[in-house]
Amino acid sequence: MTLLITPRDVAAIVAAEGLPVLLQQMEAAIAADFRRWGEFDKVARVASHSATGVIELMPVADARRYAFKYVNGHPGNHRLGLPTVMAFGVLADVATGRPEVLAELTLTTAMRTAATSVMAARALARPGARCMALIGNGAQSEFQALAFHHGLGIDQLALYDVDPAATRKLQRNLAPVGGLQLRVARSVADAVRGADIVTTVTADKRRATILTPEMVEPGMHLNAVGGDCPGKTELAPGVLAGASVFVEYEPQSRIEGDVQQMPADFSVTELWRVLTGAAPGRRSAAEVTVFDSVGFALEDYSALGLIAARAQALGLGRRIDLIPSLPDPKDLYGQLAAAGSMPAQARLRAA
Ligand SMILES: NC(=O)c1ccc[n+]([C@@H]2O[C@H](COP(=O)([O-])OP(=O)(O)OC[C@H]3O[C@@H](n4cnc5c(N)ncnc54)[C@H](O)[C@@H]3O)[C@@H](O)[C@H]2O)c1
Repeated sequence: MTLLITPRDVAAIVAAEGLPVLLQQMEAAIAADFRRWGEFDKVARVASHSATGVIELMPVADARRYAFKYVNGHPGNHRLGLPTVMAFGVLADVATGRPEVLAELTLTTAMRTAATSVMAARALARPGARCMALIGNGAQSEFQALAFHHGLGIDQLALYDVDPAATRKLQRNLAPVGGLQLRVARSVADAVRGADIVTTVTADKRRATILTPEMVEPGMHLNAVGGDCPGKTELAPGVLAGASVFVEYEPQSRIEGDVQQMPADFSVTELWRVLTGAAPGRRSAAEVTVFDSVGFALEDYSALGLIAARAQALGLGRRIDLIPSLPDPKDLYGQLAAAGSMPAQARLRAA
């Protein structure tokens, strides 16, 4: 039987653990897996593009478990009452191929993306960062805000979105959080001024330019989350040229990240190398660092393993017969007759 984990189960896990604790557990799980980078069979995700968005499959495996995520990105979906990003995924046993877990990954992606952002910022932002600009106040934004508040001590947030209703929603959702000062900015430039960290998490299917070089101050860390597809970017090339740029998995980031705008030999550092001490992170207080995040399958592998473990510990989720259970594994056909839905022999005789 396969364990089915729905959005309701994930919400129950968050209610039981508390979001700050779960985000912390997720960051620890992702960091632990990034530190054993060499053990994973990795590939850039497979993307199917259309005029309105993209649908992607993201596989990864180590010797024990195989994971994949199905995820879309359709920035116009809100006009149809649907989220921009929707996802689900599977965790399977490598030894047999048996799917062990089938899980929602829409909420989980928001958590794993925020946890990965904090993991990168912990290595790259100036120590003692307090103030973050948050550009793009949609579905991902609360998760980013709370992960940086609880995980990194960010206690001042400057909010900006081209849609004022999105900013009002973010303000409303963050209002109960103690110790978090919110400022609604008039523009991107106004939001970014004086920030230690700038998170861009906008959705637009084009080469948007959210940040330009004159907005970037010495020592800033840029957490660029929304540019994650060919032709979909957030940072002006000059911002990248003036910074040290860190990515998840270089072959995928060259296609999908903001670095798609740069020459093929533009220098980037994979984050796992910083986490293992193989490469330096921030080298000076004045250096500008960029985490050019696109989302990598390994983050979903880690997140799937964590939510499956928490669901099992809390007695959540439901066992479903996704795969037929066969008394004789070679008699797949017999399953039809056993189910009673199709009197196989009788129909064959009649034919
Ligand atoms: N890197 C990753 O791992 C990862 C993971 C999940 C989502 N994403 C990406 O993050 C982005 C945001 O996702 P979401 O689920 O929050 O989408 P969303 O549609 O819910 O929110 C996006 C927000 O960006 C705003 N926006 C668009 N253009 C803007 C601009 N020029 N300036 C300011 N705000 C602007 C929109 O008004 C909207 O409120 C998407 O592009 C998505 O693909 C990346």
